Amino acid sequence: MKKIVVFASGSGSNFQAIAESLDTSQCEISLLVCDRPGAYCLERAAALNIPTFVFNPKEYENKEEFEKQICQQLATINPDLIVLAGYMRIIGPTLLSEYEGRIINIHPALLPAFPGRDGIKDALKYGVKVLGVTIHYIDSGIDTGQIIDQVAFKRSGLETKEEIEQKIHTLEHELYPKVIKQLLNIKED
Ligand code: GRF
Repeated sequence: MKKIVVFASGSGSNFQAIAESLDTSQCEISLLVCDRPGAYCLERAAALNIPTFVFNPKEYENKEEFEKQICQQLATINPDLIVLAGYMRIIGPTLLSEYEGRIINIHPALLPAFPGRDGIKDALKYGVKVLGVTIHYIDSGIDTGQIIDQVAFKRSGLETKEEIEQKIHTLEHELYPKVIKQLLNIKED
């Protein structure tokens, strides 16, 4: 049985897409880690019956302190993969030193273009004609880790920003589960 842990801060639509795509006899989401009490991803976790570890970073002195708590949670699981899905924090040395090579992220732009918080907005502002999604390993930089997979599409130029966001999310929900299964050597059904 493969075990993954998902980190999310907000809506959690990727988290849900991953959960629904996994064959639970082969792989389980052992834990959802969330840094925002009240985030919608926690409601999704409850509905999916997935345990959560929720923390408020403001209650810790610094990143090292809350990452130590996360490491304690992870130690009991020993996950095959840590999947960042809209986790709006940079992974610090405490987590990275333990799990580098086993942490992946999804970014809503074609890296190395438009890294950072708002890849979609930045790409649209720049006026690029091809948009897309990147899945990459986490290293100590911001969206700089080795690229695992990408998917791209060409804009018609007629879409609204909302339609583009929707298209990107749809692509994310297809690509992320596929890549996770590949990395874990789980056969697609
Ligand atoms: C996604 O667009 C992902 O690329 C980015 O954060 C967003 C998370 O969305 N890193 P959701 O919480 O999974 O709905």
